[in-house]
Amino acid sequence: MIRIVEPVFSEEEKEAVLEIIESHQITRGKWTKTFQEEFAHFVGVKHCFTVCSGTTALFIALKALGVEKGDRVIVPAMSFMATIDAVYLAEGIPLVIDVDDFYTMDLNQLEDAARKFRPAVVIPVHLYGGMADMEGIMFLSEKYGFYVIEDAAQAHGAELKGKKAGAWGHIGVFSFYASKNVPMGEGGALTTSDEDVARKIKRWIDFGDHPAFNVRITEFQAAIGTIQLRKLENRNNRRREIASRYNSLLNGDFSPPTERDNSFHVYHLYTLRHSERDRIVSELKRKDIDARVYYTYLLHELRNAEHLPTPQAEKFRKEVFSIPVHPYLTDEQVEYIVESLLSAISSGKIIS
Ligand SMILES: Cc1ncc(COP(=O)(O)O)c(C=O)c1O
Repeated sequence: MIRIVEPVFSEEEKEAVLEIIESHQITRGKWTKTFQEEFAHFVGVKHCFTVCSGTTALFIALKALGVEKGDRVIVPAMSFMATIDAVYLAEGIPLVIDVDDFYTMDLNQLEDAARKFRPAVVIPVHLYGGMADMEGIMFLSEKYGFYVIEDAAQAHGAELKGKKAGAWGHIGVFSFYASKNVPMGEGGALTTSDEDVARKIKRWIDFGDHPAFNVRITEFQAAIGTIQLRKLENRNNRRREIASRYNSLLNGDFSPPTERDNSFHVYHLYTLRHSERDRIVSELKRKDIDARVYYTYLLHELRNAEHLPTPQAEKFRKEVFSIPVHPYLTDEQVEYIVESLLSAISSGKIIS
């Protein structure tokens, strides 16, 4: 089976794990410190706080920005369910809005919603590794006075106008789950350059004058994350190379992913659309290609949440599917996937 994601580790990670065992410093050591410093530098922010998952990072971000019972939080219709679950956990009231052609929060609807609902926080998601319209969203943030948490769980290294995902909003949130572009097994982080916000985040994660959680990662996770981070740039470039190969070989029967102007997409997933999606996905599976559908249900459908009209997301969710784009695919595998896709299409065509 050609897997949809493939975490790959080398001798370096093995040596680091052994070194940690031998050192007896298995938590709160040099690797956690190194990861936080290197990740903050990579994103281009002053602070990075590691936590045990992306979901936890979202929850802490909402609380650090002062979300209280009943506060409105706007999320896009297409994402992993953690994006909306964190809002419920923080006792906010989510409002789900539509997505644009890039599978990210629709700016026009955001402005209408901001005017009408006066949200405390807005959470754009850089879905599949492509940036949301952060310039527009930050403009509206100033205009309507809401905070922005970027859900960059799928977008390590993505950029818009030369600025990285996680450096645009008041807080950036990342996941280092096993399938992510920087895998640790489990893990998450919050990024910010705002000193006051950083201080508030710390209160939630350092025991002291405020009720806090133990959300630490171990040295093993931090070491694996650090070594994986150092390989990220090359791997993201390989993902982009594979994506452009797909774009050039697939014919007009598919709607391939598009990149926002002046942006750098990191293809956490290569997601395309076709009206016969289910048939195509099962044919690919028969050919040992692990194609998958992300996401079958919209966030308001999953959690019965309040929402604005979401025609675009409703159309997309019936048509989207993702094919392997991980950096360790061989050129032969890429060709095989394209051939299989094209033959799945032609086998469905009625010949007259
Ligand atoms: C967009 C998005 N947000 C949040 C999360 C939650 O991260 P975690 O699984 O580390 O809790 C994920 C991934 O799993 C995700 O893809």
